[in-house]
Amino acid sequence: MHPMLTIAVKAARRAGSIINQASQNLDLLTVSKKSHSDFVSEVDGAAEQAIIKTLLSSYPDHAILAEESGHQGDTTQSEYQWIIDPLDGTTNFLHGFPKYSVSIALKHKDVLTHAVVYDPTNNELFTASRGGGAYLNNKRLRVSKRIRLEDCLIGTGLPFRDLTHMDAYIAMLVDIIPRTVGIRRPGSAALDLAYVAAGRYDGFWEIGLAPWDMAAGCLLITESGGLVGDLEGNATQLESGQIVAGSPKIFGQLLQVIAPHLTPELIAAQKAAEK
Ligand code: IPD
Ligand code: CA
Ligand code: CA
Repeated sequence: MHPMLTIAVKAARRAGSIINQASQNLDLLTVSKKSHSDFVSEVDGAAEQAIIKTLLSSYPDHAILAEESGHQGDTTQSEYQWIIDPLDGTTNFLHGFPKYSVSIALKHKDVLTHAVVYDPTNNELFTASRGGGAYLNNKRLRVSKRIRLEDCLIGTGLPFRDLTHMDAYIAMLVDIIPRTVGIRRPGSAALDLAYVAAGRYDGFWEIGLAPWDMAAGCLLITESGGLVGDLEGNATQLESGQIVAGSPKIFGQLLQVIAPHLTPELIAAQKAAEK
């Protein structure tokens, strides 16, 4: 394992033990609301600080983008930036619904190079390094082999905070449901993407994500032989927050079903995100 990935794994496991410990006493947590349906607890902050401390103690010059504390360090000075979601699926965590994860990715010169998604409930560690493949614990991952959407299980995320694209999203959902064997919405986008990499889902789409929800999952998928892009298949997902992922065959079929439901606003958001 590359030394940088080893440190990221150490950081993710430290965050995971903070999360697991806190999950034993959910009633004791102080929870505050960032915005409509957007909750944060002291666990998010404590897990994030543990991750940042672990990363910076080995790599003090690296820059950070973390959900709770924002930017740290200067990306014009450092070629490296860690992208961190200390607890992806906070709402699930607060309800004792055991689907949440820790997500850590490293970008080098703006290219995703290492990724960790850790599910502390099941002790499942998903890792990837650019060019080195993706793994679940020690097992090499491949995306699913299914080739027809009608045989597929598809993951998604329902809009719940920003409802701007609700109508377009519902139109996509209504069109996709009867073309598949089922849809799942567990509530941790980072873990959803790891499940695509592991072939547990055949595909996934969501609107309105942040870079820390997706960065690690994107590398896991491409390193498992899958494809990831925005709702038109272009590589703006980290900036536009609109994502489609899947095995190469299913990625294309999902894009085709989604295409008629793209609104001018969704297309404009993707255009604006193009580099
Ligand atoms: C959320 C989860 C969820 C997705 C939301 C995210 P958080 O992350 O990934 O699945 O639908 O859009 O914000 O807030 O729990 O870290
Ligand atoms: Ca998140
Ligand atoms: Ca989070």
